[in-house]
Amino acid sequence: MMLQIPQVLTKAQVAECRAILDAGPWVDGNLTSGPQAALAKLNQQLPQESPEAREVGARIVRALEANPLFMSAALPHVILPPMFNRYGEGMGFADHVDNAIRRDPVTGRRLRTDLSATLFLAEPEDYDGGELVVNDLYGEHVVKLGAGDMILYPSTSLHHVTPVTRGARVASFFWMQSLVRDDAKRTLLLDMDAAIQHLSQKLSADEQGVLSLTAVYHNLLRQWAEI
Ligand code: NI
Repeated sequence: MMLQIPQVLTKAQVAECRAILDAGPWVDGNLTSGPQAALAKLNQQLPQESPEAREVGARIVRALEANPLFMSAALPHVILPPMFNRYGEGMGFADHVDNAIRRDPVTGRRLRTDLSATLFLAEPEDYDGGELVVNDLYGEHVVKLGAGDMILYPSTSLHHVTPVTRGARVASFFWMQSLVRDDAKRTLLLDMDAAIQHLSQKLSADEQGVLSLTAVYHNLLRQWAEI
């Protein structure tokens, strides 16, 4: 499923992150790409090992780990270190699918990319264009969110970023390997968790039905999780 996660960072946190990032050593985004992506991509990125990328990346991961909606939707096994891109005027990224396997630069482990995320770090009124367009079974989804908001989508999706025609689009992007590989199963678990949360606010926590549904949730997760 595609899911919008509002206010992963507050506006104050975004401002702090932008102050760090804007002073960083931005380079041509193609330094990290394979030859096929290089044809499609025109943007700038922060080197992953730069102190600016590491500092802001750590702040984002801390915020995500404290975000119940993100944890329930993504069921993350490993979150790859957040990366950062900037699209100035005339820059964009044509249709592509993200690599299936990526190496975690911290541990050297190879991970499967189940979910992709874009966390917007510029306000929509500060640039024209720069929409993230994701294609899935249900058609084309155009995404341009407020600074601090994030979109989560299956890494299997074809997607592109439309050219920026004014200003600059700054964002963090990253991938996760989920405990639950299958998007449909993950979506069922998210829906079930939301229903349990809703019921437990209406009923007492030791209500038999709530306990039983919670047991079913955990037992489904046990069936489907891969570690
Ligand atoms: Ni991509």
